[in-house]
Amino acid sequence: MTKLSSEQLIAMEDKHGAHNYHPLPVVLERGERVYVWDVEGKRYFDFLSAYSAVNQGHCHPRIVGALKEQADILTLTSRAFHNNVLGPYEKYITEYFGYDKMLPINTGVEAVETALKLCRKWAYMKKGIATDQAKIIFASGNFHGRTIAVVSASQDPDAKKGFGPYLPGLEVIPYNDLDALAEAFKDPNVAGFIVEPIQGEAGVFVPDEGYLAGVRKLCSDNNVLFIADEVQTGIARTGRLLATCGNCGCAGNCENNYETRADILILGKAISGGVFPVSAVLADDDIMLCIKPGEHGSTFGGNPLGGKVAIAALEVIKDEELAQNAMRLGIVFRERMQALVDKSDLLILVRGKGLLNAVVINDSEDSKTAWNICMALRDNGLLAKPTHGNIIRFAPPLVMTEDELHECCDIIEKTIMAFKK
Ligand SMILES: Cc1ncc(COP(=O)(O)O)c(C=O)c1O
Repeated sequence: MTKLSSEQLIAMEDKHGAHNYHPLPVVLERGERVYVWDVEGKRYFDFLSAYSAVNQGHCHPRIVGALKEQADILTLTSRAFHNNVLGPYEKYITEYFGYDKMLPINTGVEAVETALKLCRKWAYMKKGIATDQAKIIFASGNFHGRTIAVVSASQDPDAKKGFGPYLPGLEVIPYNDLDALAEAFKDPNVAGFIVEPIQGEAGVFVPDEGYLAGVRKLCSDNNVLFIADEVQTGIARTGRLLATCGNCGCAGNCENNYETRADILILGKAISGGVFPVSAVLADDDIMLCIKPGEHGSTFGGNPLGGKVAIAALEVIKDEELAQNAMRLGIVFRERMQALVDKSDLLILVRGKGLLNAVVINDSEDSKTAWNICMALRDNGLLAKPTHGNIIRFAPPLVMTEDELHECCDIIEKTIMAFKK
């Protein structure tokens, strides 16, 4: 087969693929740790990590090894039968995160759907809400994926417009606003509150100190389920195993001494290190056992390939102390970016936690400046993508070293200082 150029491959996608994405024009063919290479052989630092799926770094040998080994033995049985990986995987992941049970599924949004269904079922079986009256509260600026259910609660016109009629039983209140949450909870039909502990897609919004603890208290006081969507923030990204861990009491590696603990925990992306689609919903028995055989599932959910991959990916997080590395490097990164904010008119601020960070560009939301900066970063060997117009998210793999991080900060600094609008 003759080797196609980036230009040819982009034209092929444009002709034969649906136009539901607008990628940066770079065609990648290889990845290793913090690096990716394009088809012309140019190397880049990956500063997006597939939206935080590749926390463990590209093609981590231990995770890929688990995939290869299991692929030769058994890949899929469906849940019509048992397989010899699912039980050990469920035991491993529930002990890892400290919940009674896990429901295995494949993608982030499927896990969100699972959590919403679980919450509604709990509302009728346990809370005693009248049939079809359960309400779930969402936060403004939310991003939970792209299905009809979650776009029904979205406020992003691109995600929502043209896809009605929307799902009833959902209500949106302001993010990071405990008074609004308390007010919403006055309705006895409220069954759950779903929230991203840090909003990634919206532009890396970190709530006020005490917000998550306040959510926990309000949910407990009102018999409402606290549903944490940690698809993007989970698995060490924010410098803790989970963003809901807050300022946890764990010494060194995770011992599940969270500051706050959700009733339903939603995980995806990095649970497989970006090697294979795996997602999971965790909850205790009182909630999880509300779903009975036949009421929810998926052909691929709980497959042995995904189970082996997820165990390896979670082992890597602990063995390589990636939460600790993300915490340490996050401080270095924000210090470097703050120095840049101070000396460049192009940047307004930097914010984030661990290695989930963003800079806000000094321009209007609909300007092309953030996109053009990402193009210049690409030319200088670093890949990042704007989120919501004038914000650029920076989320490198957590296996980055401090020297590599400084090299990346040098690239960002050089690009910003040379950039002309
Ligand atoms: C917080 C959050 N929830 C859910 C999703 C959806 O995940 P997926 O794209 O795997 O369906 C995403 C994806 O970015 C996300 O960031």
